[in-house]
Amino acid sequence: MSTDQQPRANTGMFRTKTVEQSIRDTEEPEHALRKSLSAWDLTVFGVGVIIGTGIFVLTGKVAKENAGPATALAFVAAGIVCALAALCYAEFASTVPVAGSAYTFAYASIGELPAWIIGWDLVLEFALGTAVVAVGWSGYVRSLMDNIGWHLPAALEGPDVAGGTFDILAFLLVLVLTVVLVLGMKLSARITTVVVAIKVTVVMIVIIAGLFFIVGDNYKPFIPPAVTPPGGGSGWSEPLVQLIFGYEPTNFGVMGIFTAASVVFFAFIGFDVVATAAEETKLPQRDMPRGILGSLLICTVLYVAVALVVTGMEKYTRLSTSAPLADAFKAAGHPWYAGVISFGAAVGLTTVCLILLLGQTRVFFAMSRDGLLPRFFSVTHPRFRTPYRPTILLGVIIAIVAGFTSINELATLVNIGTLFAFVVVAVGVMVLRRTRPDLPRAFRTPWVPVLPILSIAASFWLMLNLPGETWFRFAVWMVIGFFVYFLYGRRHSRLGQEGRSARY
Ligand code: ALA
Repeated sequence: MSTDQQPRANTGMFRTKTVEQSIRDTEEPEHALRKSLSAWDLTVFGVGVIIGTGIFVLTGKVAKENAGPATALAFVAAGIVCALAALCYAEFASTVPVAGSAYTFAYASIGELPAWIIGWDLVLEFALGTAVVAVGWSGYVRSLMDNIGWHLPAALEGPDVAGGTFDILAFLLVLVLTVVLVLGMKLSARITTVVVAIKVTVVMIVIIAGLFFIVGDNYKPFIPPAVTPPGGGSGWSEPLVQLIFGYEPTNFGVMGIFTAASVVFFAFIGFDVVATAAEETKLPQRDMPRGILGSLLICTVLYVAVALVVTGMEKYTRLSTSAPLADAFKAAGHPWYAGVISFGAAVGLTTVCLILLLGQTRVFFAMSRDGLLPRFFSVTHPRFRTPYRPTILLGVIIAIVAGFTSINELATLVNIGTLFAFVVVAVGVMVLRRTRPDLPRAFRTPWVPVLPILSIAASFWLMLNLPGETWFRFAVWMVIGFFVYFLYGRRHSRLGQEGRSARY
């Protein structure tokens, strides 16, 4: 059957765009992005966004509070969840090579309302993710400034610091990166390459130099026994799975590894962002799967190694929760290494912020091009060919959020949003195999439907290990999204309008 003969289910909220239609949309000159990225660019892009606050900051926090030396196992668990999802993402990205990530994939497979839901959810993931990383970056920069005797007024150090209200550094970082993105993809990809090299070098320094300071006793016990959290641990701050099944709330033990995994999952966020750049890739069918899986594999190996080294250098109970990698070297009597690591972390977090911001604007751009958000936002810049309007709007909003918000609660909200996106993508792979078996797929997910079902179960399990209050906030955000869709997107949808004019 030729692709033009494919039936289009264009009824109401479950109308779908055909894959051909998605690709055609990207070819309209005023909405076209420049195709300039290779598999190498994508891998650098992936590593650039994946390694960030997760490994540099959260490792110490979860080792101290949830898993001890078994944090390495938490990284393995989170890595497995991501690998399963990556195998689904890679098939989708290589079949539907247009901007928008899981949003676009859902639109081509499940329907408009699910696509809207996932797009709305990705806006949350990328926007808050950018803010979280900007605040983490600001912490490392302040620590470097302290080393040379410069101090900001406390009020400008941010809400996470005693006496602070506004994080001026995080705010300025997001604004500067917004300008970089408006000026063009190629410029930001070049900056990214240099910065990623610095970041990976610093992570390698932690692993190799740290090996010499490992003390075997620090690994005992490798999985610390379960304990009741301070204050008895009742309430919405406990993992939902413990609330639902009425477990006695505990930290550490085997359940602690899963709690830790649901938090350090943040460290893997970003490989899905690679998929959002499909439209700007020269050969998406071949290069997308390579970029996604390659960057994920590199990061998983590095994370496990870093977690093992850091918990071997310092007893987990004494680890720092703000700059654990640098502080472990200070504790071992090597402040010079600590300075280098802090510098690399500050530089590295810059690219994470940049790429999350990029993913965010591209999802918004794709939703606007489809008419689900005002089309004003999907006109690209005549000279730079970038979606400058959503980039500027969102950049300013995120800068303000980063300036005024504490990072802890935001990070878990980012995780639940991302895991939800994984679930939708895995469902989409199965649906598209049935509805469009004829489409050429440069990369095919193995063992369908078993692998997508495993991916859904694994992602859902990590979601269950997030706090009840995170679920509540996520539900509120999604309810707002429903209102926006039914009050605006449904009527302005380009697909819906085309369907209506075809009928009359
Ligand atoms: N994975 C990215 C980080 O850890 C978002 O900062």
